[in-house]
Parts: sequence; structure tokens; C-alpha cells
Amino acid sequence: AAPAYRYLTISEPRPGVGQVTLNRPKALNALSTPLITELNTALAALDAAPSIGAIVLTGSPKAFAAGADIKEMAPLTFSQAYTTSFIESWSALTTAVKKPILAAVSGYALGGGCELALMCDVVYCTASATFGQPEIKLGTIPGAGGSQRLTRAVGKAKAMELILTGKFFSGEEAERWGVAARVFATHDELMAGALDTAETIAGYSQVAVMAAKEVVNKSQDLALRDGVEYERRVFHSLFGSKDQKIGMKAFVEKQKPEWAHE
Ligand code: HXC
Repeated sequence: AAPAYRYLTISEPRPGVGQVTLNRPKALNALSTPLITELNTALAALDAAPSIGAIVLTGSPKAFAAGADIKEMAPLTFSQAYTTSFIESWSALTTAVKKPILAAVSGYALGGGCELALMCDVVYCTASATFGQPEIKLGTIPGAGGSQRLTRAVGKAKAMELILTGKFFSGEEAERWGVAARVFATHDELMAGALDTAETIAGYSQVAVMAAKEVVNKSQDLALRDGVEYERRVFHSLFGSKDQKIGMKAFVEKQKPEWAHE
């Protein structure tokens, strides 16, 4: 039986598309440890489900997520944070999930909410979405990769200003600055756009899609020469997949490929 979630809803709104909706409305989807534990469980289940080819992660029209749970963090001591590796489990999303995750961001994406979006593979948002790393106002700093991923996305000049001032930026700016791939006028248009893209991706070979995600993400970690070599090795390895033969044969024969996902 599918696990029941307290802070999430799971659906399959399009063929091959798993949607995870953060559902903690009273706290604007603040990312408590129990919520993140559920999110990791849900994403692992979708990653393992053969019928799912792409994942959409979203919140409500009001909030993607307003940050890590400030009420949970307020009393935390250094030794508790250190010995429990507080926040480390958030990275499961980037290290364990092989299928692409699209973040569809409406409303607030602040602090850990902004970082959660930045961990996803593609970000789409509404023009009026509110992004920001306001941790400085709470006497702390981003702790889930914001100082690294935001800086890679927008460059040091803007990231430094945003993180030192805590000032918010709009979805329209997020798209212009390279945080988001596309921006939409309304929440409904955002969801339709995210699901269209996820459905397109889910229509391709899962092996090739996973490899594509892996090599693009490697570009964030490796120097150019190493990254190009890494890409070539993975490209070579795909000649060992059934789907490369299926895809190229279908092109030559002017047929639609029927992927084996092998
Ligand atoms: C816990 C939160 C919360 C959060 C909102 N709430 N954000 N609870 N953690 N991050 C709760 C409020 O306490 C309130 O609960 C309810 O959600 C509604 O919020 P309001 O403030 O009443 O709503 P509004 O006036 O519309 O203001 C929206 C807001 C504001 C601008 C988004 O809520 C806000 O500034 N939130 C905090 C944003 C933030 O600083 N995020 C970064 C967190 S630090 P009650 O019970 O009062 O109704 C962080 C660290 C990351 O993320 C590092 C590691 C991951």
C-alpha cells in the first residue's frame, strides 16, 4: 500500500509524471524535519517506480515553502545540530534521486524553500513568486546550499548582495537572473507548463534522461576538461543501452520509438 503522508500529497496528473505537493498550509510549508523525512521517502518511491519518468515538486499558490521551520530551529544547540547532522538529509534530493525533479514555485520560496528549489533540476515559477535568502535577518546564514547554488546560478555579485541583505527577489527576476528556466503569469499556467515539460521528459528513455541529468549536474562540480571527459564516458556507456539502439533505429525507419527503459 502507498504510504500515507501528513505533510505531502502525491499524484500522477499526467502519464509518467509524479507530482509531490508540499501540504503544510498553516506554516506556509515550513520545512520541518518530519516534512523533509516524508519528502525523501516520497521521492525515493517515485524514483523507484518504473512507470514514473519525471517528478514535479510544488507547494500552494501562496507558498512553495517559507523556509526551514524556525520554531524547530530556535532552541537548537550547536552540539545537537552537529551530532544529528541537522539539514544534511535535505541533500538526499540531490544525491539519491536519479529522475529529474522540476520545481514549480508560486508564492514564497524563502531560506530553505529557496534552497529546496535550487536543489531541483529545473525551476519554473510565477512572475510574482517571492524568492530570498533572509537567514541573515534571523542571525544565521543559508544552511542547505544557498550560498553555493544561488552563487552558481546568479553569480557572486548578486548572490552576495542577496545573502547579506536578505532582500527578496521576484519570480520575474529569478527567471532573468538564471535561477528559473521559465516564468508564468499565473499559478495555473505555471502548473500546466511544469506538467507539460515533465510529460515531455517522461516520454523519453529513462536511461538517457537519468544520464542527461547526471552529466549536467556534474558541470557544477567539475572543471571543464574533467566535465567534458565525464560526459564522453557516460555518452559512450549509452551505446550499451537498448534505448540508444531503439531510438536511432526508429529515427532511421521514420517510426516512433517504443522505449525499453533499458
Ligand atoms: C516556521 C513559519 C515559517 C517558518 C511562516 N511560518 N514561515 N513557521 N518556520 N519558516 C508560520 C508563521 O509563524 C505563522 O504561524 C504562519 O506560518 C503564517 O505566517 P505569517 O507570518 O503569519 O504570514 P504572512 O504575514 O503572510 O508572512 C509571510 C512570510 C513570513 C513573509 C513568508 O511568514 C515570514 O517571514 N516567514 C519566515 C521566512 C524566513 O525567514 N525564512 C527563512 C527561515 S531560515 P502562526 O502559528 O503564527 O499562525 C531558513 C534556514 C535555512 O530557512 C537553512 C537550512 C535549511
